[in-house]
Amino acid sequence: MSKLLSIVLAAGKGTRMKSTLPKVLHRVGGKSMVQHVLDAAKGAGASRNVVVIGFGADSVADELGSQAEFVVQSEQLGTGHAVMQANELLKDFEGTVMVLCGDTPLLRAELLSKLYAEHSKAKASATVLTAKMPDPTGYGRVIRDASGQVIKIVEHKDATSEELLVNEVNTGIYCFERAALFEALAGLNCNNVQGEYYLTDVISILSEKNAKVWAAEADDYQETFGINSRAQLAEAEKILRKRKNLELMNNGVTIMDVDSTFIDAEVSIGPDTVIMPFTWIEGSTSIGSGCEIGPNTRIQNTMIGDNVTLHFVYAHDCHISDNVTVGPYVHLRPNTKLAQGVKIGNFVEVKNSQIGEGSKIPHLSYIGDTDMGQKVNIGSGTITVNYDGKNKHRTNIEDGAFVGCNTNLVAPVTVGHGAYVAAGSTITKDVPPAALGVARARQNNIEGWVEKRK
Ligand code: UD1
Ligand code: CA
Repeated sequence: MSKLLSIVLAAGKGTRMKSTLPKVLHRVGGKSMVQHVLDAAKGAGASRNVVVIGFGADSVADELGSQAEFVVQSEQLGTGHAVMQANELLKDFEGTVMVLCGDTPLLRAELLSKLYAEHSKAKASATVLTAKMPDPTGYGRVIRDASGQVIKIVEHKDATSEELLVNEVNTGIYCFERAALFEALAGLNCNNVQGEYYLTDVISILSEKNAKVWAAEADDYQETFGINSRAQLAEAEKILRKRKNLELMNNGVTIMDVDSTFIDAEVSIGPDTVIMPFTWIEGSTSIGSGCEIGPNTRIQNTMIGDNVTLHFVYAHDCHISDNVTVGPYVHLRPNTKLAQGVKIGNFVEVKNSQIGEGSKIPHLSYIGDTDMGQKVNIGSGTITVNYDGKNKHRTNIEDGAFVGCNTNLVAPVTVGHGAYVAAGSTITKDVPPAALGVARARQNNIEGWVEKRK
């Protein structure tokens, strides 16, 4: 059985990004560029993935963690030199090595599968993925002989004026048989304009030895775009957003304005959910079906059930069950769990709290570090006083409790099952079940006071 592994080149600095961050760690479509590449390689069946790191090696290794094996290229002497660094690690591997660059985030698994299939079918020693570019400037050109056989790749800087006319370019993506690749790499030199060890020279070395060199052409040249600048990063962002929106719409999601909707690659959304304009859905968020999300909503790493409405909401690291309504102008902070049928109304902040089934916080409240039971009603302007300047304390509001407007609940404190709290109270002691807690000065009316004052 044939075996496939990938080598992802990610040691370069990416000078044109003008960044302290290694180029491949720049995020696009919600993931780092190198993560997109790795996902495509894995999707095409690469069972092992080796990443060549150099500039910012530790941060790249941290980002990818156990998803990959790493080899370090301490000096960036060229793409051929980068691949050579994996020689020792792979010396016992029998199979196909797919070489990729860490800066091509638009790449999809399907294209790599096609490359691998053509390489295997051709029984080639090397297969280069090519593309016809309307503007091939900067790319290596694929040079074929009279019979159409690929004989070499010439870098733009090394090309003759005749070679520069070729618009079939090297995408920088290849399949090689492991033994043939590393044998050819041993014969590289750096006699070229850039003084680098070019991986592309492997093609002419193999071709001169009469090894079989093959080419597969990508249908969509955009998919192999290498990102070198912030402007290209923004272009890739647009393409990835469009792709994600289209995928969701094809699965039954309504997106009212694709130009103002930004959904990360890993997000899932169920059918008949409507996404309204100016909405960001990020990270590992999943949204059920029949929801109404937006406008002006930002959701990060949040699990959302079915038939949920979020209007003008910022929610991060939360869990929202079915039939919940939130908004407008609500901030749901990490570790907030809203059970079925909860209603959160305007100008409310909830943090690190569980809100039980059917409970309501309709207006102007801060609920933090709270365990709230079912069918609780929270009056407008209720504040949990959860922080004493040193420690955070929890508030416990049991099933069916009714908290009047403008109440301060000074934690740690419990409002018992079915209890009432009078409006305007500052509650510092537990309110027993079914009791009324009142904690405010009594009103005193002084008759005729206005007349006497004169
Ligand atoms: C390379 C190809 C070119 C092709 C183009 C496609 C070579 C010599 N040229 O050119 O034919 O058209 O890709 O995008 O291979 N890297 C390292 N270590 C190094 C040098 C590079 O890890 O010493 C990594 C970079 O981080 C990058 C990738 O290899 O991810 C490609 O390097 P880059 O310098 O961008 O190659 P190009 O000049 O674009
Ligand atoms: Ca370059």
